[in-house]
Amino acid sequence: MLLSRPHLSRQRPSRQRRRAVIAGVVTVATAALGLGLSTQFASAQTTLRGAADDLNKDIGVAVSYNLLQNNAQYRNLVATEFNSLTAENAMKWDATEPSDGNYTFTQADAIVDFAEDNDQTVHGHTFVWHQQTPSWVQNLSGTALQTAMVEHINTVANRYEGRVDSWDVVNEVVSDSNGAMRDSFWLRGLGEGYITTAFQTARAADPNADLYINDYSIDGINAKSNKVYSIAQGLKSQNILDGVGFQAHLILGQVPSDMEANLQRFVNLGLKVRITELDIRIQTPADANELQQQANDYRRVTEICAELADCSGVTVWGVRDGDSWVPGVFPGYGAPLLFNDDLSKKPAYNAVLDALGGDGNEEPTTSNPVTTTPPPSGSGCTATLSVQSPWNTGATYSGTVKANQNLTGWTVTWTWPGSERISNAWSVQGNLSGATVTGSNVGYNGTVASGQTTTFGFNITKANGSTASVPTVTCTPA
Ligand code: XIL
Repeated sequence: MLLSRPHLSRQRPSRQRRRAVIAGVVTVATAALGLGLSTQFASAQTTLRGAADDLNKDIGVAVSYNLLQNNAQYRNLVATEFNSLTAENAMKWDATEPSDGNYTFTQADAIVDFAEDNDQTVHGHTFVWHQQTPSWVQNLSGTALQTAMVEHINTVANRYEGRVDSWDVVNEVVSDSNGAMRDSFWLRGLGEGYITTAFQTARAADPNADLYINDYSIDGINAKSNKVYSIAQGLKSQNILDGVGFQAHLILGQVPSDMEANLQRFVNLGLKVRITELDIRIQTPADANELQQQANDYRRVTEICAELADCSGVTVWGVRDGDSWVPGVFPGYGAPLLFNDDLSKKPAYNAVLDALGGDGNEEPTTSNPVTTTPPPSGSGCTATLSVQSPWNTGATYSGTVKANQNLTGWTVTWTWPGSERISNAWSVQGNLSGATVTGSNVGYNGTVASGQTTTFGFNITKANGSTASVPTVTCTPA
């Protein structure tokens, strides 16, 4: 279990997202009938949104104004699957203040209205960036540049006060080499102090919004994230920073092994962390194995956030693969998101759902068979394993623990019949790597009300070409 300090949060009276309406109805109905808790959420959630709501996390998506306007299926999916929105482009400086003092909020307003209509939070992106900022700003210097920055932040933050829950105040201010500050027109014009000024301005403009510093290639521990760490330390000591946004524009198979430790060190500063722009790109065309690897990568990243109390959520950078910025910017790469262009779900979708504690087995994603063992009955909990997707030398499994009484913790155990061994696991911890596996709940999935279920998962290695076996699992309440 990860250690996390309780977040010393400031007051946030801004609107609270409601739980999915249907859950509310069921709650009221069962309360009226005097039924117990156990019947309320008897089955695991089947949408990302439902699962994230249960964890009190944001599952966000970057949205396009045009698609929200023109595509009803896209709109429905955004409303159903996500509880948080970020404007992919509509809140950037070139969209909101294309010329000095002339503000254009049509697109940003529409996105915030949509979020409000659908009880979604908004993570605002972004005030101060070296890209998508008009040349009239870039041509300013000294006091005039500072004045423009302060006015811009004030105007946009004031407009959305109470409606935008958090802001990427500065974006990508650290360079890719040697942990230096990025050599941008901001740094050249104003010196490093522009970052502090931006945060002070944003704090004063909307004291209740959470303020983030956001960057890419800081997902693991490296020179760049070390620099962000020291900037964050300074801003936090002045109480003008609330969180760090990790963009997580990742490459297949390259989730940093120290990502969890990296996020934890920021949490230890008393900050929130957030995965702000997640996508995982694959060299195209992507094959089935790569899509499965991508699912595992998505699962890992989501899992890290799910397990960290101070991780506010995960935002994916677009809905459908075809909408993504990736192919345009990284030639030869694509397929980085959760949905295909016909809005069907990719393996990565089910992995994210699983990692959020939902029922990611609901719709098996490949032609691979899903096999399950029958649950033994009569004990305080029962557990089953199912093979989600086998490949020649390995397989991904999902485990389900069902509570037959109220649980405050659980332990599952089984023995592999052959050479199968767990290589990595999520939502479960213990002695996992040997022939006999003993695993217990992690921090957030130990409390399970009678009748409810929770899930965990793992990958195994196995003999080339062998069948992925499904051992019988014993479940014991803690
Ligand atoms: C990208 C958008 O996805 C594209 O539509 C746009 O053309 C360029 O910007 N880091 C960020 C995001 O902080 O704002 C970027 O979004 C992706 C990289």
